[in-house]
Amino acid sequence: MMTNMENLVLVSGATGNLGQRICRELIKNDIKVRAIVRHESKADKINTLEKLGVEVVKVDTSNEQDLIAACTGVSCVVSAVAGLHDVIVEAQSKLLKAAIAAGVPRFIPSDFSTDITQMPEGENRNFDLRKEFHKLLDQSPIQATSIFNGCFTDILRYNTPLFNVPKKTVAYYDDKADWEIDFTTMDDTAAYTALAAVDETTPRYLNIASFRVSPSDLVSLSEQYKGAKFELVHMGSMEEFSAYNKMQRAAQPEGENDLYPKWQQSQYLYSMFLVHHNNLDNDRYGGLSWSPVEANI
Ligand SMILES: NC(=O)c1ccc[n+]([C@@H]2O[C@H](COP(=O)([O-])OP(=O)(O)OC[C@H]3O[C@@H](n4cnc5c(N)ncnc54)[C@H](OP(=O)(O)O)[C@@H]3O)[C@@H](O)[C@H]2O)c1
Repeated sequence: MMTNMENLVLVSGATGNLGQRICRELIKNDIKVRAIVRHESKADKINTLEKLGVEVVKVDTSNEQDLIAACTGVSCVVSAVAGLHDVIVEAQSKLLKAAIAAGVPRFIPSDFSTDITQMPEGENRNFDLRKEFHKLLDQSPIQATSIFNGCFTDILRYNTPLFNVPKKTVAYYDDKADWEIDFTTMDDTAAYTALAAVDETTPRYLNIASFRVSPSDLVSLSEQYKGAKFELVHMGSMEEFSAYNKMQRAAQPEGENDLYPKWQQSQYLYSMFLVHHNNLDNDRYGGLSWSPVEANI
């Protein structure tokens, strides 16, 4: 891995769940971290960052000069913001513009998702927002790297149709009972992102997964770890699933203003069965340990 002695990583979204973990991992690796926070960001979250050793800079995220000043001297911007068009497209575009103006060489956008390049438009609203931002990012004079981690492992504890503990069911679509789904813990994602942030030779995309499991694997795991063999339930075809999601979205337009309305959650499930990562880049950095599936169900 090629690293620069003068690394200074700027994290946006540092007060968030993933962002804070990325800051912690950067500090753990003795990398200087600057975080931009908003005037309205919660004081306790800022406090936590400061205690970690992060240089916290309060900015007006709509103010170009504030953002350029925050980007000055930075070797890589890592964005871990979460939100809708105003955040993923608009706020990230402002940050990107400021990073370029300040001469920052590298930018890691807030993707942290399944490989969205394999997803057709119109199937996942939140992925479409990332795709929209990528159009700008890919025309920009900055080295961009997206980290695709599949699904955060937390979803295995949310009793979604994929793995429903109270109902003791595991869902699958089409003939995809053996379809492997990529899962990564937030901590593993953060540890990997911290190393990617100081790796000057990263490619455009990096795919990672703590583990991969299929619906059939989840049935076996339920027997081993949940004390009962869950029922494998065929939920219909992917075509029907896509049509259902579109119908739900059209019927609940108020969800357009929510980050995770019910139909968006269903679109994520659809994405999990449509796309998986072909090659994993887990081994790019040494010294990382990947959380096993047993620890996450
Ligand atoms: N693959 C998966 O399964 C999965 C699951 C969940 C999340 N994710 C992704 O992981 C990334 C981080 O998500 P998260 O759950 O850690 O987010 P989170 O905890 O909700 O934190 C969101 C962060 O974004 C900041 N933010 C919100 N609006 C902003 C704006 N207009 N300008 C600047 N900053 C703004 C927040 O700052 P304040 O503190 O100031 O509000 C906060 O730091 C996102 O890309 C998300 O989509 C992936």
